[in-house]
Amino acid sequence: MSYAIVGFGKIGQALAHAFARKNIDVTVASRRPPEALAPQARAIGPTVVAKSLRDAVEADTIILATPFWEHREVAKALPNWEGKTIIDATNAFPVPEELHGLPSSAFVAKAFTGAKLVKGFNHLIAATLATDPIVEGGHRVVFLSSDDEDAIAPVAALAKQLGFAPVKLGKLNEGGALVHARGRTWGQLIFQDLFKKEQ
Ligand SMILES: NC(=O)c1ccc[n+]([C@@H]2O[C@H](COP(=O)([O-])OP(=O)(O)OC[C@H]3O[C@@H](n4cnc5c(N)ncnc54)[C@H](OP(=O)(O)O)[C@@H]3O)[C@@H](O)[C@H]2O)c1
Repeated sequence: MSYAIVGFGKIGQALAHAFARKNIDVTVASRRPPEALAPQARAIGPTVVAKSLRDAVEADTIILATPFWEHREVAKALPNWEGKTIIDATNAFPVPEELHGLPSSAFVAKAFTGAKLVKGFNHLIAATLATDPIVEGGHRVVFLSSDDEDAIAPVAALAKQLGFAPVKLGKLNEGGALVHARGRTWGQLIFQDLFKKEQ
């Protein structure tokens, strides 16, 4: 399994720290050239490697950590996303009218033709997500939801590898609604920094 983080701002860097902590290889990319991201990538850890967006999307699993509307630009990087998993860490807040009531991650999924999409790593502020998810033997919870049941298990396995405790919420418009915004209101699980004794 190969991993990339697209968007190397607050959330992208927080997640890069999680990969570095466990010595797991991850590519990071943004609109800027890799040389511009390399010093910060190197500072986070040797397993974090900056590449161009085009090279980064060769990974099997891509974490989307850009501003919400930028997903449309990222989606243009490949004509078809068959065989790939997108982990959508974006939030749309307040929810734009253009979504016509769709959960924001279902809207994102439509842009990545052929991909499996899992919403996750979006419910905590970046500063919290960046810290060690294992605290006094407890594992920080991350919530995963998807309209594609098969897609959640490998993302849950990655979350565990990174030290988090994944909690599966089911479909995007069912349990996943708890980690989406509605209008100007955050879902009930957003910002809830919870821990489980076991992963
Ligand atoms: N900040 C938080 O606490 C937090 C918490 C939970 C979820 N989120 C969500 O996470 C996402 C990222 O938030 P953030 O706070 O990390 O934002 P940020 O600090 O502004 O970082 C955004 C990153 O996306 C990159 N980017 C923008 N457009 C791009 C494109 N078309 N292709 C590739 N890279 C692009 C930017 O780099 P370049 O300008 O170099 O392209 C930058 O590295 C948002 O959707 C936000 O709602 C944020």
